[in-house]
Amino acid sequence: MASTRKILAIDQGTTSTRAIVFDQATEALATERREFRQFYPQHGWVEHDAEEIWRHVLEVSHAVIERSGGAGDIAAIGITNQRETIVVWDRATGEPIHHAIVWQDRRTAERCAELREQGAEELVRARTGLLLDPYFSATKLAWLLDKVDGARARAERGELAFGTIDSFLLWRLTGGRVHATDITNACRTMLFDIHRQCWDEELLRLFDIPASLLGEVRDNSTIFGETEPSLFGRAIPIGGMAGDQQAAVVGQACFAAGMAKSTYGTGCFMLLNTGDEAVASESRLLTTIAYRIHGRTTYALEGAIFVAGAAIKWLRDGIGLITHASQTDDMATRVPDNHGVYMVPGFVGLGAPHWDPHARGLICGLTLDATAAHIARAALESVAFQTLDLAEAMQRDGGGEAQALRVDGGMAANDWFCQFLADMLQVPVERPRHLETTALGAAFLAGLAVGVWRDLDEVAATWSRASLFEPTMAAGQRGKVVAGWQEAMRRALLK
Ligand code: G3P
Repeated sequence: MASTRKILAIDQGTTSTRAIVFDQATEALATERREFRQFYPQHGWVEHDAEEIWRHVLEVSHAVIERSGGAGDIAAIGITNQRETIVVWDRATGEPIHHAIVWQDRRTAERCAELREQGAEELVRARTGLLLDPYFSATKLAWLLDKVDGARARAERGELAFGTIDSFLLWRLTGGRVHATDITNACRTMLFDIHRQCWDEELLRLFDIPASLLGEVRDNSTIFGETEPSLFGRAIPIGGMAGDQQAAVVGQACFAAGMAKSTYGTGCFMLLNTGDEAVASESRLLTTIAYRIHGRTTYALEGAIFVAGAAIKWLRDGIGLITHASQTDDMATRVPDNHGVYMVPGFVGLGAPHWDPHARGLICGLTLDATAAHIARAALESVAFQTLDLAEAMQRDGGGEAQALRVDGGMAANDWFCQFLADMLQVPVERPRHLETTALGAAFLAGLAVGVWRDLDEVAATWSRASLFEPTMAAGQRGKVVAGWQEAMRRALLK
């Protein structure tokens, strides 16, 4: 059927904002992307300007709508976003009261340590499936309420709203009519009980968060609201929302228990579908909600690595070793091995399974004949090694061994990286036709809500593999490189 079968996906990531219009056959008809400013006001702090994000969302959306036939053709909008990042805004004016505090921000590390000493981690783990780490939203939100003049009093009077980026965008797109979030974003705030599936009173007390700040929590595929007509010339339903990693699970069609995907964006996030069961991790992985559709919840085990593509960006912008990310493929191939050079990219501390907010990055094993190519290769290898650490932790947790790993995101375009990943994990690595899987997942969720796709089976049927990387490295060689990584990691960990 013709025109109104198109979906606009908005993918609001950590360093860029993208919009893609997909048709029913999942062809990307138009794509637009804008990088935006990162603010580092203090050591370990990371902020975004939510107004700039909003402006970019409108710009990229207008651009792709225009290039794909106009707003009249868009059946629904799907939103996906960097998770955990917080925005607090004034309900009357819609204006944020502070920069967004980004998931990478470590400013509440001390507060988390304090709460851990008070013995709060068990409660947090049991209710939310998360760990007491500054990564998640709750302590950032408390910080903001305490540090912004008058914020706590205004929150208590019900004048302010809190949301992750999805929620802020939904509020703006609906002209301030809807204050809601979806369950995958809610479950990353550290305020949400993933078993009872509601905001948790005890956690709100623990983190000192007034309930009046919170929005309604909904399924991932449902009509969240309609856009303010003046924005795109007509009201368009917003039919899907999900955190970017969960959207990638949907985009990769990992719908059966035991299926796993790994997305290589700014960070790397590996999710293993565990079906109806919320598997509690013994290995410091996260138990999270993969999606909830028609009230039915699917859980996942998640390993979160904070730096993946960010390490390549650092090679480019931080030390000027490369001028374009794609050069790393060539550089890694140019040298026969890593020459004993390892990088541990702990630029913002280390996530799963170590959770050390104070760890810092290191490059070790340098000799006078080490070259830029070895360092570039070490950066790529570090991302594969970290994925290996996650896969092993998942196995220890009884999540089982995934038969294959579906990869997506920027680094998944790198053939050398995918092959090395397969060699380290010793499972086949599958790269789909679409590397913009996150946006596609958001499109699927929106399309399911308005009947563009009937059900998850129909969605799964659209998934197709473009490349397969089978493990080929000899066991002895693999053992040696992995041992080198483990030694490098020991050096990076401060505790
Ligand atoms: O949890 C943070 C994650 O959602 C960020 O994703 O793609 O911006 O690295 P990305």
